[in-house]
Amino acid sequence: MHIYSLYELKAAQTAMLMIRKYAIDKSSSHLLKTWAKPYEDFVYQQDRNAHEFLTRDSKKNDITSELLANKSLTNSTDLMSKMVRLIKEEFHHFEQVLQIMTARGIDYSNIRAGRYAKQLIIHMRTHEPLTLIDKLIIGAFIEARSCERFAKLAPHLDDELAKFYTSLLRSEARHFQDYLALAEDIAGEDISERIDYFRNKEMELILTEDSEFRFHSGLPPQ
Ligand SMILES: [Fe+2]
Ligand SMILES: [Fe+2]
Repeated sequence: MHIYSLYELKAAQTAMLMIRKYAIDKSSSHLLKTWAKPYEDFVYQQDRNAHEFLTRDSKKNDITSELLANKSLTNSTDLMSKMVRLIKEEFHHFEQVLQIMTARGIDYSNIRAGRYAKQLIIHMRTHEPLTLIDKLIIGAFIEARSCERFAKLAPHLDDELAKFYTSLLRSEARHFQDYLALAEDIAGEDISERIDYFRNKEMELILTEDSEFRFHSGLPPQ
């Protein structure tokens, strides 16, 4: 459970960074910060209280209707609206995981991210728009891999968790398609070679030994 709560939050934060950098107008930046604040406060404070967090009054998820897209990228409105929906869902997943953890008496504590995303990011090209296209392709792989793992895990879990993982899986499947569609649109040309490139890197991470156990980790050490 733990590992997923980290994953959901990272997914939301990554998407937020992406739209701050590429899709929203500077004047809207503070709206995103306000949106993320309760989650970040909860995660980074020492004396966190899950019940307080889950029952807070400021629980409104619609401030994003006021976000303005910037004009530097032709696809910024599309990027913004797809990512905003994704962020909403990931924050919601985070709360759902926390709810289940709380009900099961599992305390939230932070864990370090594993090697997976870091090792993919190092292969990003360093000039735009290629960096953005690579980021989106990596996003697609992360989401698709989690989708696969939820599907593999669900049959081994109790009913409540199996149902929950299946609901997550549906939404992660949409996320991976959104990332891929954005990468293709922004590239404006065939990107299958680049997808293959990351597919190979990703496969290596999944199939080689990994000392840390995380949601996207490789094989456990023998
Ligand atoms: Fe999620
Ligand atoms: Fe997702």
